[in-house]
Amino acid sequence: MTSQQELIKILRDAYSGERAAAYAYRGHWKSLRDASERTRIRQIEDEEWQHRRDVGAMLAAMNSAPVRFKELKMLLIGRGIGFLCHVIGWFLPMYFAGRLEGGNVVEYETAAAWAAGAGLTHFESGLREMAAREKEHEVYFFSVIANHRLLPLMQSIFGWGEAGKVNSPIP
Ligand SMILES: [Fe+2]
Ligand SMILES: [Fe+2]
Repeated sequence: MTSQQELIKILRDAYSGERAAAYAYRGHWKSLRDASERTRIRQIEDEEWQHRRDVGAMLAAMNSAPVRFKELKMLLIGRGIGFLCHVIGWFLPMYFAGRLEGGNVVEYETAAAWAAGAGLTHFESGLREMAAREKEHEVYFFSVIANHRLLPLMQSIFGWGEAGKVNSPIP
């Protein structure tokens, strides 16, 4: 595959992934009682919708389009997680949100590298900004659970949650 084809592939995943994330965060902030957490995660929801618009514009500029099946799948996953946030307590949604955001950082950094490889430098800078925004999200979620008693256990099972890695600058 060419660099542009690789870029399209990853951006199609990102586009639909942002949909799942945004709906999951909508359920998440609505499930919370703490006003500052509600406000911040509502803002994060808005930022994911913005990413989706920006990624959609990049796909359109390359004469590509989202994948309908992925769109439906991610709608259902996002809604499902949004619902689950109301029943699984405070910690798990915060933990898995942070872990997901860590993956998003890598996804947009990878997309930026493919954009550079394809000579699409205007996309590259936009994608690096998105990666930086995802990093802010990751750091936020880590900050709220950093001292939680379950974090060491979750980290040993699911891998995410090491302060040094979370707070390291984007490579
Ligand atoms: Fe995002
Ligand atoms: Fe995010």
